[in-house]
Amino acid sequence: MNPSTLDPRGPGAGAIAELWWVLFYVSLIITVLTLAALGYAIFRRRVDWRLPSDEQDRGPTRAIVFAGILFPAIVISGLFIYVVITYRAITGPGDTPFTVRIIGAKWWWDVIYEYDSPILNARTANEVRIPVGRRVSIALESRDVIHSFWVPRLQGKMDLVPGRTNRIWIQADSPGVYRGQCAEFCGLQHARMAFYVVAMEENEFEEWIAAQRQPAAAPQSDAERRGRDVYLTRGCPLCHAVRGTESLAHAAPDLTHVGSRLSIAAGVLPNTRGHMAGWISNPQQIKPGSYMPRIPLEPAELQDIVSYVLSLR
Ligand code: CUA
Repeated sequence: MNPSTLDPRGPGAGAIAELWWVLFYVSLIITVLTLAALGYAIFRRRVDWRLPSDEQDRGPTRAIVFAGILFPAIVISGLFIYVVITYRAITGPGDTPFTVRIIGAKWWWDVIYEYDSPILNARTANEVRIPVGRRVSIALESRDVIHSFWVPRLQGKMDLVPGRTNRIWIQADSPGVYRGQCAEFCGLQHARMAFYVVAMEENEFEEWIAAQRQPAAAPQSDAERRGRDVYLTRGCPLCHAVRGTESLAHAAPDLTHVGSRLSIAAGVLPNTRGHMAGWISNPQQIKPGSYMPRIPLEPAELQDIVSYVLSLR
């Protein structure tokens, strides 16, 4: 889970890690050469200024032309070309039949799977599931301020800028959970604007996306039915959506399948019954400044709404 750029698990982060090591070793070699030249300059014999200039040592002039102009020009041009080649290799279109449209908002990620057919679309939050070994097309937008999409082990950063769409792809070479983080300061809860990329085998992904496209499951138990009524009557539908009910707002995460997610509050808490109850009962204590208000609930109502929300799998 350690999200290190030097522990890449996909070709995007792999190319960046390679670039990083090349820059590191080139810098190391040049530092050693520079220190050696400095040592040589300190201990070499002095120029005898009493000689006429045409009899003086030409070494210093040659050293300046080579080590001060030619050598840096060649090395820096070479590295620049390498950086441009790497940049071109890690940007560009993906190869999936869908695009994951990710909309940054203070302080969470709206994640929409867009196919050519809108009937196939699915919507989740703070969790991007992808098939392993595929270049998944990502389109990045923002609803308020500039955020930055960054999954250190899979790909470089890309900003989410209000009013435009930035495109990138991500690819994971092995199944697993990769932590992502907003990498552009965006306000009070910037540090708690995390997400997870879950790379799954292609067939598991197909099953997952088919389930995500479905409307919400109907409540089964009495507690879940009561919880749905609490959900629908206490203001939750003003911001949230549970597809299949009259709750269809998208100012806050789509909750249609929230029970199947790894985390709540954008990677802040694991998605367990206890944490969900804590989050609903007082979001401002867990994530001060977030737009989720505290809605006064009786203890029984809280238990029921948690039962309902977690049943939305
Ligand atoms: Cu969003 Cu920092």
